[in-house]
Amino acid sequence: MEFVEQLKSQVDIVKTIGEYVRLKRLGSTGRYVGLCPFHQEKTPSFSVNQSRQWYHCFGCGVGGDVLKFVMEIDGLTFFEALKLLAERHGIPMPKRAGFSDEQSKLRGALYDIHLIAANLFQASLRAPQGAEARAYLAKRGVSAEMIETFALGYAEPSGQSLVRRLAQERFSPVDLDASGLVRKRDDGSRYDSFRGRLMFPIHDESGKVIAFGGRGMREEDQPKYLNSPETPIYRKTSVLYNLNRAKNGMRSSGRAVLVEGYMDVIGVYAAGIKEVVASCGTAFTEPQARKLHLHCDTVVINFDPDAAGADAAETKVIPRLLDEGLHVRVLALNGGLDPDEYVKQNGAEVYRVHLDSAAGYFHWLADRARARFDMRSAEGRMDAFKKVLMPAVEKLSDKLERAAVASDLADYLGVDRGVVLDQFKRAAADRRTPAPAAAPTGPAVPPLERMLLNALLASRVAREEILPGLSGAWIEDFVARDIFEALRAVSNATSGAAADSAADSDPNTGDAIAFRALEERLAPASQSLLRQIASADELTDGEVALEQARNCLHRMETGQRKRYLAALKAKVIAAQRNGQADEARSLALELMRAENAAAESTGASGGRISGNRA
Ligand code: UTP
Ligand code: MN
Repeated sequence: MEFVEQLKSQVDIVKTIGEYVRLKRLGSTGRYVGLCPFHQEKTPSFSVNQSRQWYHCFGCGVGGDVLKFVMEIDGLTFFEALKLLAERHGIPMPKRAGFSDEQSKLRGALYDIHLIAANLFQASLRAPQGAEARAYLAKRGVSAEMIETFALGYAEPSGQSLVRRLAQERFSPVDLDASGLVRKRDDGSRYDSFRGRLMFPIHDESGKVIAFGGRGMREEDQPKYLNSPETPIYRKTSVLYNLNRAKNGMRSSGRAVLVEGYMDVIGVYAAGIKEVVASCGTAFTEPQARKLHLHCDTVVINFDPDAAGADAAETKVIPRLLDEGLHVRVLALNGGLDPDEYVKQNGAEVYRVHLDSAAGYFHWLADRARARFDMRSAEGRMDAFKKVLMPAVEKLSDKLERAAVASDLADYLGVDRGVVLDQFKRAAADRRTPAPAAAPTGPAVPPLERMLLNALLASRVAREEILPGLSGAWIEDFVARDIFEALRAVSNATSGAAADSAADSDPNTGDAIAFRALEERLAPASQSLLRQIASADELTDGEVALEQARNCLHRMETGQRKRYLAALKAKVIAAQRNGQADEARSLALELMRAENAAAESTGASGGRISGNRA
């Protein structure tokens, strides 16, 4: 598929992945690291290699090229990933039908339906029938600019306008029913799911409309918010409202502000705090915490001051954020107002000041504990500490921070400091007992083998000199044996003329191996091993590759000879001990010959492989 190659050569993997993950550049090696978006971790083991245009996670083993990344992170099929990247880079797709499969076609139709719906709702809000909705927004203090920014709309009450509009576009009944935006009566006729509601489009991270929340505008409109159901393009538990607009702000400010509602997001955003997001009418989830962490390290929770909001913050949100390794602050606004109302009553400046001075979550928890337990008795204070604070403080991974917070809190609650620290140590010891083994990342490749492979990957000259001599017996017990063999096969297949495709070769060397060809010959475990080896620190550059390969071979050979001689010696001794005089003598002779041969070759410069191995 030439188009795939063409696309990949025009797409920068670092830039693309960088939209989802904060990447740090490592020196001048063209390598970048960040937190892996595919598994939970607090220190970065996710690596992106710019010259080789691939990514690899040392923690969980995932890896591949830019297309694989987009497929996995956005849950797309191959075709959809291709289309997304092509669109983003303004590369026209070849107009070949049959390129796409059923699943991608359905999802493609659903994106189209949502875009059409969003446009229709926006138009209705501006039209005469949108007067009531416009008045409602005005009453709520939502400016024209925010209406535009958030693409707010109005679903008119007839229940027919979207159905009719979609009928004009000739979507299939399957597409319509899968969208969640229309409903079917028993007689087979269809009507709009959202009627007479103010519409909040929900976007995915890349800015596509994937769902809606619809707010009723009168007391009798129940439920207050109606939300899209889950569909093939909308997985509620991993979506955050406004993430598409907030992520840049999150990166520049280093924090996210987490609120409960659509209206809160808009109110806070209007106050100039763009790094604000909300979970869409669902409990806060682990994948949502993960998404926040990919863009920033601190989350300020600013929930509604009611009991439901505070309970959710205490039991769901704070623990999940801490588990994710995020710093957590809580902004509790006075006056019983939610963020949106607060901003409106007190102004953006006052809100900002409070936001910037929001305290660590433990003080907020301590205040909650005080209100719930009898703080006059020692047991009550101890209970407050154990039930409300311990579970959260325990999640702090930094030992010193934990101890400091614990003693700080003991003072704050009037609990004996010694008793608290004692409790704390006990809990920590409990947690330590079943020490989780480090994530298995497959067999470790010995350094010499790794360096040899890197040298061969980097340089054609090295491959041509070294590979023919790496016979079956020589690489028999290599950990990365499969890779060496695949390398030999690819190298043989492509030796001679301008073999490696331009898109693949390393710009520094001009003759690095074609990685894709190599990968295609490998089982997934070996592919992962290959990426691991090739992403390791010893990046070889083409000029020194041959020298490095020769040195590795020489040192491996010497090591092998040493092991061979030691084994032979042990055999001689064993034979003598067992009284097998003849056997001992012939072994001793062999040993002598081998030692002589070794002495001869040590002076010579390495590179040739001795054929006789034990
Ligand atoms: P709120 O009731 O706090 O909504 O619910 P809000 O966004 O602040 O809206 P206003 O100010 O009352 O107009 C918080 C969030 O919970 C979800 C919505 O996502 C809402 O934004 N929710 C609420 C529902 O999904 N359904 C409901 O019936 C109510
Ligand atoms: Mn509200």
